[in-house]
Amino acid sequence: MASSKFLFPFLPPLAFFFFLLLLLLNHGGASPQLSTDFYSRSCPRVFDTVRSVVQSAIQKERRMGASLLRLLFHDCFVLGCDASLLLDDTPTFRGEKTAKPNNNSVRGFDVIDRIKAAVEKVCPGVVSCADILAITSRDSVVILGGPNWEVKLGRRDSRKASFAKANTEIPPPFSSLANLTAFFARKGLSQGDMIALSGAHTIGLAQCFTFRDRIYNDTDIDGSFAKMRQANCPRPVGFGDSNLAPLDLQTPTVFDNDYYNNLVAFKGLLHSDQELFKTIGSNSAPLVKYYAGNTAAFFNDFVVGMIKMSDIRPLTGKKGEIRKNCRKVN
Ligand code: HEM
Ligand SMILES: *[C@@H]1O[C@H](CO)[C@@H](O)[C@H](O)[C@H]1NC(C)=O
Ligand SMILES: *[C@@H]1O[C@H](CO)[C@@H](O)[C@H](O)[C@H]1NC(C)=O
Ligand SMILES: *[C@@H]1O[C@H](CO)[C@@H](O)[C@H](O)[C@H]1NC(C)=O
Repeated sequence: MASSKFLFPFLPPLAFFFFLLLLLLNHGGASPQLSTDFYSRSCPRVFDTVRSVVQSAIQKERRMGASLLRLLFHDCFVLGCDASLLLDDTPTFRGEKTAKPNNNSVRGFDVIDRIKAAVEKVCPGVVSCADILAITSRDSVVILGGPNWEVKLGRRDSRKASFAKANTEIPPPFSSLANLTAFFARKGLSQGDMIALSGAHTIGLAQCFTFRDRIYNDTDIDGSFAKMRQANCPRPVGFGDSNLAPLDLQTPTVFDNDYYNNLVAFKGLLHSDQELFKTIGSNSAPLVKYYAGNTAAFFNDFVVGMIKMSDIRPLTGKKGEIRKNCRKVN
């Protein structure tokens, strides 16, 4: 009684102190623990080891660079950058791989397995699958001719996944500009980040069902481009659904700024791509035009976006685990 009476005047400031401490600890989901030299002592060979496997995979199939880059996006937007995407379904566990944006679409898991096996050989039990995704996406961009950057590391791997969130937190290709902006805002990314990160569609391929409505129904599309894509993507649903077309019609295996030049020419493949340059007066159009005319600016902002995206809610410290096999929890 007496002591609680004595403490009372100190309680509000004390509560305020703990509130501040909590704020600090939860600081926007950003993690001060990620650092570029995280493995400098525990696994100095991690970068060479990852790069050589990525290099040989891309040599075998140029598209793989695009597929590997996309893995990071689909991982980080669901529960954060925690390799939740890599977990296989089991009879008692539903992962993210069969969620709508991923099913029969995300690829490269076997390459990640090879990278993980190679890394385990040089430093067993040290490097997380989440960090491997971050390094792999950077290496892919560099190998295909894009910008280089130092990857922050120290993420740990989740013991869970979310099929439901994989269905609702990754934007669909039918999204409007406002919707795209909202999807990215939910992850702490600005509209500018979204526009720069969408430049990833300068590499890789998409299936007919993702752009069918665009090439038959959209009006903000170049006529001859629409015809060209219609030739390999029949109008009726269920026909040629998985037929492939390049996201960048000019250089789909080179990481450059052609994506933005396509948009300015109304030759974006996905509805969501063209949303960034739907009308010259839209609020996103000036940035698209800027990147179309300035590769260095695009590269710079893409790197900023990638670093921000790979910082989404990482597990650090004692949270999560270092998986032995990226496909399953230890
Ligand atoms: C802005 C919202 C985005 C939407 C709506 C979107 C949608 C899509 C769709 C529908 C595909 C084709 C999938 C298929 O047909 O199987 C695709 C492919 C791809 N996406 Fe995105 N995406 C977005 C943002 C991003 C971001 C931020 C990145 C990475 C930084 C990215 C990287 C890629 C890559 C590289 C491919 C080609 C993959 C391959 O060839 O295997 N996308 N995207
Ligand atoms: C994923 O695709 C397969 C076809 O390859 C299909 O049988 C299955 O139902 C799909 N899963 C979901 C959850 O939609
Ligand atoms: C997309 O935008 C529409 C209209 O602005 C809104 O009603 C809808 O909830 C949005 N959907 C998502 C998934 O953000
Ligand atoms: C285009 O719009 C029409 C009318 O709204 C719709 O019936 C059709 O399914 C849409 N998509 C394609 C590929 O024609």
